[in-house]
Order: sequence, then C-alpha cells, then structure tokens
Amino acid sequence: MSETSRIVVLPGDGIGPEIVGATKEVLDAIGSFEYTEHLIGGASIDEHGVALTDEVVEACRQSDAVLLGAVGGPKWDEAVANDPTAPRPEQGLLGIRKELGLFANLRPVKPFPALIESSPLKRDRIEGTDLLVVRELTGGIYFGDSGRRDDNGGTAYDECAYSVPEIERITRVAFEAARQRAFGRDAGPRVTSVDKANVLESSRLWRETVKVVAEDYSDVELDHMLVDNTAMQLVSRPADFDVIVTENLFGDILSDEGAMLTGSLGMLPSASTGAEGEPGLFEPVHGSAPDIAGTGSANPLATMLSAAMMLRYGLGNGESADRIESAVDGVLASGLRTPDLFSGAEGESKVGTEEVAAAVLAQLSR
Ligand code: IPM
Ligand code: MG
Repeated sequence: MSETSRIVVLPGDGIGPEIVGATKEVLDAIGSFEYTEHLIGGASIDEHGVALTDEVVEACRQSDAVLLGAVGGPKWDEAVANDPTAPRPEQGLLGIRKELGLFANLRPVKPFPALIESSPLKRDRIEGTDLLVVRELTGGIYFGDSGRRDDNGGTAYDECAYSVPEIERITRVAFEAARQRAFGRDAGPRVTSVDKANVLESSRLWRETVKVVAEDYSDVELDHMLVDNTAMQLVSRPADFDVIVTENLFGDILSDEGAMLTGSLGMLPSASTGAEGEPGLFEPVHGSAPDIAGTGSANPLATMLSAAMMLRYGLGNGESADRIESAVDGVLASGLRTPDLFSGAEGESKVGTEEVAAAVLAQLSR
C-alpha cells in the first residue's frame, strides 16, 4: 500500500486497549497507517461525562476507517443501577453507529480448521460452515421510541419500527454480498431473510420488502425463516446457510450464536458500513471482558480479523487482508491458544495476547 490511511482508533474499555494495541502492531507490519486515538464508552464517561463526544464523531467522519475495541464494564453498570439516568458505555457504540450512518453490519462465521475441536458442536455438523450474518444496525427496536410510564404499577416500552427504505438498503447489501461470495464457487448465491412475520407487523413489512428487492436478483435463491426456527437450524445444520439478512435485534442474538459455532466468541470479526465512500467501523463481535482485562490473556484475533475486514472493505486492500487472515490461520495451526481457545488437546500451548501478536508478526514476515 503506497498511501497512508488515516485510522481513528477507539480502544474503549476492558480488554479493548490490549487487543487494539496488538492489532496496531500487525497493521504496522503490513502497511502505512496514521492513527488518532480517542475515548469511547466508559473511558469517555470517566473523562467527559458522556460515552461519545462530538469531537470523536467529527474525527471519525474525517477518517478513512475506524477501528474499535469494546465498550462496557461493571463499574458503569453499577452507576446505572444506582441512577438509571447515568450515562451507559453502550451509548457510545450505538451513537457512533447512528452518527456515521453504519446501517449494515457484516459478521462472517467460518470456523477455522484448527479450532473445529473447540466448537461445542460435533465436527460433522460444523464442517463446511461458511456463513455471513448481515445485520441491520441503525434501526428497529434499538433506535425506536422507548420510555417508561406510570400505568399498571410501572411500565416500560421499546418500539420496533422499520421503514421500507431501511429494509430495502440492507436487503441490497445482503444480495450483493451473496453474489460476491458465490463468485467462483460451485453453489449459487443464497439469502435467508430472518423475521418473526407470524407475529410482528414490522416483520411482515420486512418480508414483503425483501421479496420486492429480490426481483432484481433472480440469480440469488431466497428463503424466509422465522427467527426461532433459525436459532434452532443454526445449531443443527449451520453448513446449510449462506447469507442471513435480518433486523437489528435478531442479528445481535443470532450472530453471538453463530460466533460460538467457531469455538469462541473471541474469533469473530465484524464490519459496519454505511454510504459508499464514507468511513466504516470495524470491531470484534465480543465484548470488553472486564473479568480478564489487564491480565494479558485476551484473545486479539477477532480484532486482527476485523482489521483485515477494514483493509478489504474499508480501504480496498484485499491483498493485505488475505495476508492477515492466513497469518492468523498459521498461528492457530501452530497450536498457540489464548485461554478462551485452549482445550488441552495435544500440540496446543496456552499463551497470552502479546505472544499471539508476536506469532502473527512472525507469520507475516515468512
Ligand atoms: C454487539 C453488541 C452491542 C449490540 C452492544 C454492546 C450494545 O452486543 O455489537 O453485538 O447490541 O449491538
Ligand atoms: Mg451483540
């Protein structure tokens, strides 16, 4: 890569700074990056009293891409327990997604061959799994009207609303991704649209709209699946899925389920993108793991794989993305395992964040 890319780095809370630090070492080994680091989540609450400041939003807007660690922790949860109006770290993450218009969240689930034994599923179920969750990220129940009322002894409500344009644009992302994934592959592209159309009006509009968009993609096979059934099918026959497109909350839940198929939540990267040419945000699917923060044992691989997605989708450099992904493959094949991946099988050795980073760097320089 000749040009220097301007990356805003948002390490966040808990293990965030450790995994992002390790990932920057890897990025520096393959290209030229100029980082500006900013606070988000609990770290920002401590410093500024809010989880996301306007300055940080502006810095992200001016960047080529945003790399994020994780937000949240018990300290701020306690503050909210004592005072429900206290700021919450998650507001930082939701805020940056909304402000940058990052409506499409891509979460690929593809178990690493070396980790098949770490999956809670049997080998014959998991083998061949290679799916992509396309999660709508700036609408639905996460961003609807919500609040509390005094009736019936105290009531809380969260509205789930979707507009036709919101459904259309995420559906197009899913169909386009399905086409791209099928390129050079035997099996044709397939999209499974997940909803709860037997109960929810927003899901019925979702299904109708997906069907209309699908008319532009006659080469892509489309089916509709109810979310409860999908949760079940994901563990019974994960290899049968290709692209799953779904609304915000269902995507949140199904992607954690999908992640665990790969053996650890610590392996799943994600990319959040918005309008063409605007900066995307790249972050691991796992959280801030406050219980192990500062112990040097966090698994940095999902963040490194998110950096690979940043290179591929955000900076148009698929070649460097491939290099990071094969380096991660190589490290896993060599038997190195952070504690979340360690099964005690022969050939495995338990290591920490820095040793994993060093091993990835060694793979890159081979
Ligand atoms: C995720 C997380 C976030 C979400 C939380 C931390 C707000 O679970 O990215 O999946 O629900 O979107
Ligand atoms: Mg989640």
